[in-house]
Amino acid sequence: MNPPLPRRDFLRASALLGGAAALGVPLGAAAAGTGGAASTLPHAGARVGSPARRSLRILILGGTGFTGPHQVRYAVERGHRVTVFNRGRRQAELPAGVEELVGDRNSGELDALRGRTWDAVIDNPTTLPFWVRDAGEVLRDATGQYVFISTLSAYDVRGAAAVDESTALLGYADGDPLDVTPEVYQERGGALYGPMKAASEREAARWFGDRTTVIRPGLIVGPGDQTDRFTYWPVRIARGGEVLAPGTGADRVQVIDARDLAEWTVRVVEEGATGDFNAVGPRAPLSMAEQLHGIRGALPGDLEVGFTWVPAEFLQAEGVRPWSEMTTWFGPDAVLSRASNARAVAAGLSFRPLATTTVETLEWFRSLPAERQNAMQAGLDAEKERAVLAAWRERG
Ligand SMILES: NC(=O)c1ccc[n+]([C@@H]2O[C@H](COP(=O)([O-])OP(=O)(O)OC[C@H]3O[C@@H](n4cnc5c(N)ncnc54)[C@H](OP(=O)(O)O)[C@@H]3O)[C@@H](O)[C@H]2O)c1
Repeated sequence: MNPPLPRRDFLRASALLGGAAALGVPLGAAAAGTGGAASTLPHAGARVGSPARRSLRILILGGTGFTGPHQVRYAVERGHRVTVFNRGRRQAELPAGVEELVGDRNSGELDALRGRTWDAVIDNPTTLPFWVRDAGEVLRDATGQYVFISTLSAYDVRGAAAVDESTALLGYADGDPLDVTPEVYQERGGALYGPMKAASEREAARWFGDRTTVIRPGLIVGPGDQTDRFTYWPVRIARGGEVLAPGTGADRVQVIDARDLAEWTVRVVEEGATGDFNAVGPRAPLSMAEQLHGIRGALPGDLEVGFTWVPAEFLQAEGVRPWSEMTTWFGPDAVLSRASNARAVAAGLSFRPLATTTVETLEWFRSLPAERQNAMQAGLDAEKERAVLAAWRERG
């Protein structure tokens, strides 16, 4: 069992930056979905397959990771011509006709992009500012729009009561962010994630000016999410029995289904929408209790399951960590669980029901090899859950 954090640190970690630094960081920890009914329900937004008004040439940097393939498929179905650019290490099933260019952004190998033009570039995987600078040098005059996928972790939420697109971004005081190499970034173990995303946003504005769109997602979830952060809950609840649940149930949670994010990103390109957008769901505020009961409601009715809500202080004393073990939960009163999505919703962001995300994530997870299913990357270990529940009962 992990040693408990001092209470003050625990509350600070959970209420303020605790999960912030983790948003988007491949943890070996945490993820999440959205809000409501059954998988056959439609969701708002342009239908996949309905053609866009105009066919665009779209370059997707990092089109073979988690969100990229969803963008590629949606864009192709809507009649766009898609090029992806990556090192060729990740395998993804992309539709026929997608052009694949190869290069390594760590070493500035972008020659495959030179001499070409696109209507829009979507930059998915970038955290380090020099990646943006290199892309800017090659693509500034070669694209109409540049879409940078950032993160809510770019915000400086210290002292903030709420987060919207006007909230200040994190700074970086240790030198020129363009000098931060992959090695230095790696050494700092994720501590530079937010500051580097914020610096990358500034670098994007330098190169692409008012042709820049910045999308700041919260926790991205759904089929294909290798972090298991949201996935933990459908998997755990489907196992049945007494489920340890964090806090009072009233704490807010926000997540975004990777497909909602990807499809809306393509529509942002179609509309030529620029500026900054937080991309989190669901549309209306969702509590942890609504999320867990919503997940439970999407699973078979004969499942015997009960939630035992255990206060944050007790979890802290037992060494149960928010976010990485009690996934999707930052803790009580977390500012980053209450980010405004009003701008993105006004610009067409739409949400699959929580039930759709739940059922399809579980289907995907169960299709993975047994060894992978037995090696959850986030969530509470079953034995530890039993021990904490027993300790809670003993306390009466
Ligand atoms: N996951 C979350 O919950 C979350 C939350 C908030 C924000 N975000 C942000 O969302 C964005 C999208 O994440 P994602 O999960 O879709 O990305 P991802 O899975 O990490 O995608 C990686 C893609 O980039 C390519 N790539 C990696 N290194 C490269 C290199 N050196 N040169 C060229 N291409 C390279 C990969 O292909 P190869 O390996 O073949 O090169 C792959 O296509 C990220 O910017 C992340 O910060 C994520």
